[in-house]
Amino acid sequence: MAIEVQPSGMACGATVRGVNLRAPLRTRDIEALRAAWLDHLVLAFPDQDLDDDALERVTLAFGPFGEDPFIAPVPGRQHVLAIERRADEATPLFAEVWHSDWSFLEVPPAATLLHGRVIPPVGGDTLFANQYAAYDALDDTMKQRLQGLRGIHCAARGYAKDGLYGEKDIGRSMAIRPSDDAKQSRTHPFVHTHPETGRKCLFVNMGYTTGIEGLPADEAHDLLLAIFRHQAEERFQYRHHWSTNMLVIWDNRCVTHKATGGYDGHARLLHRTTVAGP
Ligand code: SIN
Repeated sequence: MAIEVQPSGMACGATVRGVNLRAPLRTRDIEALRAAWLDHLVLAFPDQDLDDDALERVTLAFGPFGEDPFIAPVPGRQHVLAIERRADEATPLFAEVWHSDWSFLEVPPAATLLHGRVIPPVGGDTLFANQYAAYDALDDTMKQRLQGLRGIHCAARGYAKDGLYGEKDIGRSMAIRPSDDAKQSRTHPFVHTHPETGRKCLFVNMGYTTGIEGLPADEAHDLLLAIFRHQAEERFQYRHHWSTNMLVIWDNRCVTHKATGGYDGHARLLHRTTVAGP
């Protein structure tokens, strides 16, 4: 079977066929998949009926497991999280703000894998935004202004005890474990050079970037708002539509993403792993 990679025609994303992810992958297949992943940033593999053993095996083909704070893994696993919502759930949608996964960690994950187990008949798409393209589209004055800046990243708004998923978030099906450890912050370069492609991209996101090191709060706020608006423009986006048994792998270093709703009255369940960065 030859691996077939079909680009989405949007700002990033491709569908991959001709590979069976349930079987152990050959070295040359892993190399081809990694190359396609670095080129297209988000790869979707339809019709991959993976259990958690297979999901872990595919994850390890991309690199060692990453750290996943604030969400307990599914029973019996250390590295598999359930992204889930009951049909009757009324809590705010999980991950509906543009973000890159765990960007507040010292070393954020290189990749995230998400496997569709229960997919609603309507809605529930995931949006991705290509941050190479968002950087490239900035004018030279803005590129110079951002060079050398460091964004402050912090998970408190989501995962602290008084955060969105904190102690007042009653009735959520996901196994979120809020903690005041989420109040810790770390900085990362605003403009990041991708360690594998050498290309520059924006590495800030509305979910976790709360300020800019060394800038007064109002100046940082204005600059961040302008960048948040820019980096999520539709011209940089790929809208991913799920089907049951579809696996998606994205490069967390150069795309941001967000969940979308539109499936009230239907359940949704995906299993997620991360690959350690950089
Ligand atoms: C996530 O950000 O991990 C979840 C995305 C989604 O539910 O579509």
